[in-house]
Amino acid sequence: MQHLITTDDLTIEQIEQILEDASRFKLQKNPPSLLKNRLLFTLFFENSTRTRSSFEVAAKRLGASVAHLDPSKSSTSKGETLEDTFLNIAAMQPDGVIIRHSDNALAQKFADFNITPLLNAGSGNFAHPTQALLDLFTLKEHFGNLEGIKIAIVGDIVNSRVASSAIALFGRFGIKISLVAPEQFMPHNLDLPKFEKLKDVLGDVDAVMSLRAQLERHNKPIFEDYETYASHYCLTKENIGDKNIIIMHPGPVMRNIDISDEILSDPRSKVLTQVTNGLFVRMAVLKLLLLDS
Ligand code: NCD
Repeated sequence: MQHLITTDDLTIEQIEQILEDASRFKLQKNPPSLLKNRLLFTLFFENSTRTRSSFEVAAKRLGASVAHLDPSKSSTSKGETLEDTFLNIAAMQPDGVIIRHSDNALAQKFADFNITPLLNAGSGNFAHPTQALLDLFTLKEHFGNLEGIKIAIVGDIVNSRVASSAIALFGRFGIKISLVAPEQFMPHNLDLPKFEKLKDVLGDVDAVMSLRAQLERHNKPIFEDYETYASHYCLTKENIGDKNIIIMHPGPVMRNIDISDEILSDPRSKVLTQVTNGLFVRMAVLKLLLLDS
């Protein structure tokens, strides 16, 4: 039984298979019902706009059905442990459970029961493997060859599971990563080039991944006013100019703090392409975990 908790759960061959399947799915108007009669369960303890619906659409496009548990209406609010909630869902014998939770270790803990394939849809600041895979796909689609591409990750890196997974995955494909953030948002345990000023990297990268401040993970407000932060880290017409780079963001975008309105609608912005690609990448991930493993 294969789980996807971090991208390290996948071999390079499996990742290449996902990228290849995703490209094929992207070209098919009517994808085959590879997952007919399969049932997936989504268990989202944190909010989600893109990831939950993307998994659901991906499953349905391949002919599977999807059931949701809404934690705000579940028995966890009556005192049931999360473990018991999971075991009860698993007892209904779904073909996989897609989980998001603020606890870094919960998805792995449930995977260790080995009852049903576990797909991590975001765990604390630890990992968001399908986001990293869709970002990798988007880079490959644009640049063709991944080796040697230079990307700057900008924003609240230390609190971001998107950054953790991107850093872990991109490094395996020879992508060169630099980190741009104020001291408060900069991780200290990573051996990567670090910059405080956006202008020091923008002339020397092929892509920029912007990340929002993870306000829900801050114990107390880190910046009183995000206008000053934006004046240093927002991607704007002024600092991007006519540079030949692409702009990425996992969403939700804090408009005019992370990326200006103008740059968001610029053809160099891949933000909505990432969402589209996420669908095909998740179809490929479901195929790999439910059929090929
Ligand atoms: C991210 C998440 O929830 O980790 N969004 C997403 O899944 N596309 C990023 C975020 O919330 O900032």
